[in-house]
Amino acid sequence: MRNPELEADLAYIQKVFAPEDDGLRAIRSRLRENDREGINVSPVEGKILQFLVQAFHCKKVVEVGALYGYSATWIARALPSDARLYTIEKDSFCVQQTKQSLKECSVENKVEVLEGEWGKRLPELSAKGPFDMVFIDANKNGYFEILTWAIANVRKGGLIVGDNTLLFGAAKHDVKPADVSNEAWTAMRAFNQTLADPTKFMSVMLPTSEGMTLAIRL
Ligand code: DHB
Ligand code: MG
Repeated sequence: MRNPELEADLAYIQKVFAPEDDGLRAIRSRLRENDREGINVSPVEGKILQFLVQAFHCKKVVEVGALYGYSATWIARALPSDARLYTIEKDSFCVQQTKQSLKECSVENKVEVLEGEWGKRLPELSAKGPFDMVFIDANKNGYFEILTWAIANVRKGGLIVGDNTLLFGAAKHDVKPADVSNEAWTAMRAFNQTLADPTKFMSVMLPTSEGMTLAIRL
């Protein structure tokens, strides 16, 4: 982000509405140590997820792409003790990091970390559905296929949320820019276009710096 005024405004929003405690700060420190900071959601985006979980009274949530469990921690903290977040992560190092994060933030009892490819884990999860919310934050090439699963497995009135749906500036272009893969560009365009159908979804994209698409399944 290169707009200093907007950056200062966002810093104000974070300070007032999305302060981190030591647990969340520790997760970001580990991300930073491993040169992965910035791939996680921001504190304000984490608070938005938490807000949605609470507003929709979510008790069964799926996250695709855990990374180190930063967004999972925000989400889990808004869940009642009998609710569950299932978070899928394919990278075994990230799975270990996520488990550590959840334990250190005392939310491990509300979260099941499912190791493996979403292509394998999502079909298995269907038996535990329907879900109140599906949050998609995985490899961008897979967004449309994950959406197909989400539409089939989220309850009516439930939420589908996608991070990075501006695709780092590429989503708005009607002709694929050279610096993005055809797979990611095609998948994200179809993801947003599908959720924009007012006969099937009540939807909007929050204009966060990454873009966060929100859709209620009608
Ligand atoms: C990337 C992935 C993300 O989910 C994100 O929020 C930011 C960046 C990435 O792969 O670069
Ligand atoms: Mg993301």
